Amino acid sequence: MTPQNNRAPASFIIRFALPEDASALSEISVASMNSAWSAQDFLDAINGTQSIVLSAIVEDEIAGYMVMYHAADEGEIPSVAVKDTHRRSGVGHALMNELFTHAKELGLTRIFLEVRRSNTPAIAYYESHGFLCAGERKRFYSDPVEDALIYTTII
Ligand SMILES: CC(C)(COP(=O)(O)OP(=O)(O)OC[C@H]1O[C@@H](n2cnc3c(N)ncnc32)[C@H](O)[C@@H]1OP(=O)(O)O)[C@@H](O)C(=O)NCCC(=O)NCCS
Repeated sequence: MTPQNNRAPASFIIRFALPEDASALSEISVASMNSAWSAQDFLDAINGTQSIVLSAIVEDEIAGYMVMYHAADEGEIPSVAVKDTHRRSGVGHALMNELFTHAKELGLTRIFLEVRRSNTPAIAYYESHGFLCAGERKRFYSDPVEDALIYTTII
């Protein structure tokens, strides 16, 4: 995987997550968002037949992940995060590009996700990959209560 901007780290790879990644992925999730995934959540997705989990490896360390569930021709991204020390270096871009490759191989035509209205970095990230806001779910999130924006893209 080739980094896509000038601030990218010297080298990183995106690969399918392994069961032994689960604890490290959960640590990133817990540090990154309120609705964090446990190691068991990641294990279930890694072992699932309707899910893809990608790990981003920077200098031998797990630096981020992306999860997608899929059914029929649709995908849904329930969780994505990059370790704070590795953000804005192209890791998120690389994860999304790799996910799109796998989504096309699976014959998916559309991907959905939900994001907190206040999460401007994530919204900018999704919009940079062609996602458009398709609606909202009022008071969808708790702790703190907040609306969700629904984003989708055709692939
Ligand atoms: C959203 C997230 C995964 C992006 O990962 P990242 O590795 O920092 O993303 P990249 O460096 O590849 O940036 C991709 C693009 O996203 C946008 N972006 C990312 N962070 C941004 C920020 N803080 N402010 C504005 N735009 C931002 C930019 O368009 C950027 O492209 P550019 O760097 O060429 O301008 C990361 O910020 C994160 O882990 N956030 C916490 C977890 C989270 O909120 N997950 C989403 C829940 S719905």
